[in-house]
Amino acid sequence: MPARKVFIKSWGCQMNVYDALRMRDVVAPLGYAPTEEASEADLIILNTCHIREKATEKLFSELGRLRPYQKARAQLGKRTLLAVAGCVAQAEGAEIQRRMPYVDMVFGPQAYHHLPEMIARAHREAGHVLDTDFPPETKFDSLPEESQAPSVSAFLSVQEGCDKFCTFCVVPYTRGAEYSRPVASIVAEAERLVAKGAREITLLGQNVNAFHGQGPDGKAWSLGRLFHRLAEIPNLLRLRYTTSHPSDMDDELIAAHREIPQLMPFLHLPVQSGSDRVLEAMNRKHRVDDYRRAIDKLRAARPDIALSSDFIVGFPGETDADFAATMKLAEEIGYAQAYSFKYSPRPGTPAAAMQNQVAEPAKNTRLAELQQLLRAQQERFNAGMQGRTLPVLFENTMKDKPGHLFGRTPYMQAVHGAAPERFVGMEQMVKIDKTGINRLAGDLHVD
Ligand code: 5AD
Ligand code: SF4
Repeated sequence: MPARKVFIKSWGCQMNVYDALRMRDVVAPLGYAPTEEASEADLIILNTCHIREKATEKLFSELGRLRPYQKARAQLGKRTLLAVAGCVAQAEGAEIQRRMPYVDMVFGPQAYHHLPEMIARAHREAGHVLDTDFPPETKFDSLPEESQAPSVSAFLSVQEGCDKFCTFCVVPYTRGAEYSRPVASIVAEAERLVAKGAREITLLGQNVNAFHGQGPDGKAWSLGRLFHRLAEIPNLLRLRYTTSHPSDMDDELIAAHREIPQLMPFLHLPVQSGSDRVLEAMNRKHRVDDYRRAIDKLRAARPDIALSSDFIVGFPGETDADFAATMKLAEEIGYAQAYSFKYSPRPGTPAAAMQNQVAEPAKNTRLAELQQLLRAQQERFNAGMQGRTLPVLFENTMKDKPGHLFGRTPYMQAVHGAAPERFVGMEQMVKIDKTGINRLAGDLHVD
């Protein structure tokens, strides 16, 4: 088999990071080894994200940058296949092929397991392959087992797609309908990851807490039930999951936070807005009080649970009073960390066509105000760890800090600490002696 190289560049969410790893695995049997150098690649895959603005322009400028490599190699008689994958491909496939005819393949997030076939077809014919329309049900069946050693903290995709149709969001259009993997294949993949060194697994899904995969008993299992099963795997020290929707925080999942010590006390539960009026216009399908109740129940189940959220400011029709309600909710809940965005109209989504768009200056002021609050909360949360001794799962050595390891607390905080390399992959007690907004530092605790 000829030695070939694949270069993959990925933008956006953790789902895309995961997809990129699987694409690498899927092309490995064809003789493609990963490279960091686009100029020497036989296959270049741009794995795109459509959730934020300017995604398409970013893609076109990246394609323009890569085109000379493709030309230079052609002069040496070498073929460079150029592929655009991910959500921009799904949404704008036809436009990409029209504007950039030298792109060989365009395929959506459901279709990457067809990559080998597409590569073969691209080699055979001069034309283009447009492949964005595969049902998700077939996606997981035909993937090879993961080839490379995973990291200490690994991702495992258990659910895809979204049926919620929030009016600002492209995901239900680009990722398609909700689909949950069967429990048996998830457990098998988790066991393989652990056998290769993973000690923490984060279950991924666009709407992961809506998981309803088929269990070995033939019944649909909830995410809470799945966690009970995964907690039986020896040496799997930590479990996490992201991203969740407030309406799908069922009692079984909340109870899992009380019952399963491996399930980490950290939850990313986006609320988007603290105003019922805005939540309604966003089609979020719950009210602010429902969110409060879910948080209360979670805190009753696991009092130390740390919370994270996404917020959108300047959604169409958002008034000063609506925004004040968002600030009030954020103050009331108290987040360990959170992401906040200015509303950005995504073509084709209902909110983009709403007449009452908020002016840019108001969006800017609101974003700055909310971010100031969230940063202060994050700093305070981290400062609260000063002097405490916490279990840290060490994930990596640090290139720029010899003799130090990088790890995380149960609450997702990054920790830098002096520790021997053999502690990578182990949970150790660390006494925190320094805290900042983005990380903690400490020494190994010795009794
Ligand atoms: N404008 C701004 N933020 C958005 N998000 C999704 N779509 C948009 C949009 N059109 C944010 C939401 C979501 C996160 C992943 O990205 O807060 O939870
Ligand atoms: Fe998008 Fe809403 Fe689905 Fe999240 S729940 S992926 S924001 S449509």
